[in-house]
Amino acid sequence: MATAGEFVETLQQRIDLRMAELERVGNPDAPGEGEAMDAVVSRLKLALRNEMEASELAAMWMPSTPEIDVKLGLARQAGDEARHYRLIEEHLETLEVDLTGFDPLEGGYSPMFQLLRGYESTIERVAAAQLTRESLALTKNEQFIAFCDGAGAAATAEFYRTEIQPDEQWHVRLGRRTLEKYATTPDSQVLALAASTAVLDLAERIQNRQVHELGISHAPGC
Ligand SMILES: [Fe+2]
Ligand SMILES: [Fe+2]
Repeated sequence: MATAGEFVETLQQRIDLRMAELERVGNPDAPGEGEAMDAVVSRLKLALRNEMEASELAAMWMPSTPEIDVKLGLARQAGDEARHYRLIEEHLETLEVDLTGFDPLEGGYSPMFQLLRGYESTIERVAAAQLTRESLALTKNEQFIAFCDGAGAAATAEFYRTEIQPDEQWHVRLGRRTLEKYATTPDSQVLALAASTAVLDLAERIQNRQVHELGISHAPGC
């Protein structure tokens, strides 16, 4: 059996490999002159949904998580994602976007939220949400930053670099630390691997749909 440390290393490599494949799912052309700011704004509105869902999920899991270190980590994450929501809102106001009547959860919870909500063990939760989904978010945010730089939205790029990404790195570390400590049996490693794979499979389906049906790539995560 792999030690927990070896297991997490292999799992992270697997996630990185799948993310590199995801990046190759066609990227629509850069927005034309005049469309650039609209494209940035529509992606920031998607980000509001992702932040809200990530905050709710961490808060929802906190009471049913027995491990004190993970429970406190989830509490911090719920606060971080709520803060990101407010910061993105404020940033949209600086771009003169009117959010009156905007509902981030319009149409109901996303398929990713519904998948994650179903996990009941700490191992599955952190493997799926903190390690895998947050790793995806880190990469998607990097792509979004590059997209903003290309679209002339330097302030948005800088905002993501300095205000959002450091917390997202911490969320991934929470996932890693938790698995390194608790994924110490073959059974727990099987559960973690299955949960991580389910998130990657769903992310691939979402990415395909966003690119081919909605023409959106580089949407920020949470
Ligand atoms: Fe996050
Ligand atoms: Fe976030």
